[in-house]
Amino acid sequence: MRKNIAAGNWKMNLDLDAGKILASEVINMTADEVSNDAEVILIPPFVHITSVKQLAGSAKNVFVGAQNCSDKASGAFTGEISVEMLKSAGVDYIVVGHSERREIYGEDDALLASKTKAVLEGGLKPIFCCGEKLESREAEQHFAVNKEQIEKGLFGLSKEEILKVVIAYEPVWAIGTGVTASSDQAQEMHAYIRGLIAEQYDQETADSISILYGGSVKPDNAQELFAQPDVDGGLVGGASLKSRDFVDIIKSF
Ligand code: PGA
Repeated sequence: MRKNIAAGNWKMNLDLDAGKILASEVINMTADEVSNDAEVILIPPFVHITSVKQLAGSAKNVFVGAQNCSDKASGAFTGEISVEMLKSAGVDYIVVGHSERREIYGEDDALLASKTKAVLEGGLKPIFCCGEKLESREAEQHFAVNKEQIEKGLFGLSKEEILKVVIAYEPVWAIGTGVTASSDQAQEMHAYIRGLIAEQYDQETADSISILYGGSVKPDNAQELFAQPDVDGGLVGGASLKSRDFVDIIKSF
């Protein structure tokens, strides 16, 4: 059955020393306090990955992720980082299509499909993000927007490939705003996304894929969100920068 996952996306925050302190605190507190089998994924900026991986060592259920990658294998692509490089640094998961990449850096569906494929071909697991903007929700286009992102980003994959993908539903209006989708809104969209996968592949495949919610997840709303049948955890931004808050979120399963 699918896994419960708490992933902390640090975004472009914290210098190396602060990142090492945060990672150590989360790893130690998780070992001491978390008895369930949820997977924890720490997703620091690229330059901190090696250090965070060293700290994670063989910690039970703690994995390291990257926030982005190139869809190219190697070569003259100044400033880019390949899946193979991330793999060699100990990364297990790579976030693809975060709304900040889509919006600020203009990453389109075709590029994101190509990145997803590159991650899988490199033997790592994509955390594929989708989510509508406020105007789409207000215009009641939110199902259509998420459907298009999922179809264009993921439906070129084989069944074996999509089984390795984690999906993160992150309504853009809830990211970094303090406004969280209600647990009903999250459940409704997660069930819809799972239904799309069941239609395209089959029910067993859909039931095996973890779908995370992201957007102002906090210790005081995580439990209610994670209790929803189709919400398998969270992709957490701001609250993952405070070890106590993030560990309380991890303990919310
Ligand atoms: P937030 O960010 O928790 O700060 O809203 C979530 C995300 O962007 O993944």
